[in-house]
Amino acid sequence: MPSAPLPLSGRSLRTTDSPISYFIQKAFETPGLISFAAGLVDEPSLPAAEVGAAVAALMADPATARAALQYGTTRGYTPLREKVLDLVCRADGVAPGDVGLSVDDVILTTGSQQLLYLLGEALFDPGDIVITEAPSYFVYHSLLVSQGARVLTVPMDDGGMDLDALEALLDQLARTGEIARVKLIYTVDYYQNPTGLTLAEARRPQLVELARRHSTRHRILILEDAAYRELRYSGDDITSIKRFDEGNEFVVYTSTFSKPCAPGLRTGYTLMPRDLVGPVLNLKGNHDFGSAALGQHVLDQLMSTGTYHRHAEKVRGVYREKCGLTLRALEQEFADFPGVKWTVPAGGLYVWLTFPPHVDTGPGGSLVPAALAAGVLYVPGEFGHVPDETGWVPRNEVRICFAVADPAQIPEGIRRLRQACRGLERSTARGKMTAGV
Ligand SMILES: Cc1ncc(COP(=O)(O)O)c(C=O)c1O
Repeated sequence: MPSAPLPLSGRSLRTTDSPISYFIQKAFETPGLISFAAGLVDEPSLPAAEVGAAVAALMADPATARAALQYGTTRGYTPLREKVLDLVCRADGVAPGDVGLSVDDVILTTGSQQLLYLLGEALFDPGDIVITEAPSYFVYHSLLVSQGARVLTVPMDDGGMDLDALEALLDQLARTGEIARVKLIYTVDYYQNPTGLTLAEARRPQLVELARRHSTRHRILILEDAAYRELRYSGDDITSIKRFDEGNEFVVYTSTFSKPCAPGLRTGYTLMPRDLVGPVLNLKGNHDFGSAALGQHVLDQLMSTGTYHRHAEKVRGVYREKCGLTLRALEQEFADFPGVKWTVPAGGLYVWLTFPPHVDTGPGGSLVPAALAAGVLYVPGEFGHVPDETGWVPRNEVRICFAVADPAQIPEGIRRLRQACRGLERSTARGKMTAGV
């Protein structure tokens, strides 16, 4: 007799596996496949020797060994929180006090992903509205669905989130009274996952001003997800949105040591309005009493000795080369493909391709199986979008993550993608657009 069903919560039932699990699985199963799908980091440059030396140094002294192996505080290791505050403020060319910040406003989290989750726990009741860029970080979209939030989107252009569209949306929500449900505006403002686009400098103070102006019922917060900020390859660093939040009221800034150092250390950080720190810490206490102390002590050691900054510089060099290889290969292979265009990121790990509308890049379309047959894998752009009221999402976009593939594989992977498109052109010409996975 079958046993009775599990009494799962509504939240659990709303929470699904990542849409790209299928693609990651494919990459593992298919020998010789070149994967531009998984958003992992470059493996050969992971700082194994540096982390090994830091752990050895910590364990050599009984006092530091005990501190690193004991429970820490929920906020995180204070010397590392001080270094994080210095890192962010230095990048913005300000002293912490100039923007109303102190070390008390910094929390260390288990990757920046944990902050995304905790903030939702702290802010949302079911039906509350979050405004994101379209497209956006698809893992965050899944999380919002799981937390019962309603996601509204605004388009992007070369300068990132379109603030005229955001203003029009906020005005419309004010007219309908729904502004009372708007809790958060989410932006990945440096070399965005998935497009590689960056929010233009001039838009940053305007975004804070928009949030401030529409905060008539309660504060509408901005979640600045700066996960890729330290992976800049060209030009000067761009001032954070947080820099323009002078009273530390509107912007929750989050970033991570995963990209410039090592995701295995699972350490991210956040700088947030002071009155939000307590509620977030209470929830984090329920999670874990504080993120793993060992990772925090290792990072503190790496930052104290200058190793972290040297390593981040090295990693930037690795990705600069990979990004250049990807862009050159696209120019070479797709020059004769009418109507395709791609972003030219100044940092990060992603290039975003937009095909003419008839090329179906989606999981149910023809390009996915053609690409798999050619030996290359990408993430369908539709995963980054939220369907509109009619269920429509753009199905002609592709995310290329150039982080994991070996430099020698990158031109070959792009050549295979072009080959897959060629096969498609032929079958389209014969009127046979086949169904995919
Ligand atoms: C935009 C963005 N935010 C947050 C994260 C979470 O990263 P982590 O938890 O490793 O800090 C990722 C991971 O890829 C990401 O792409």
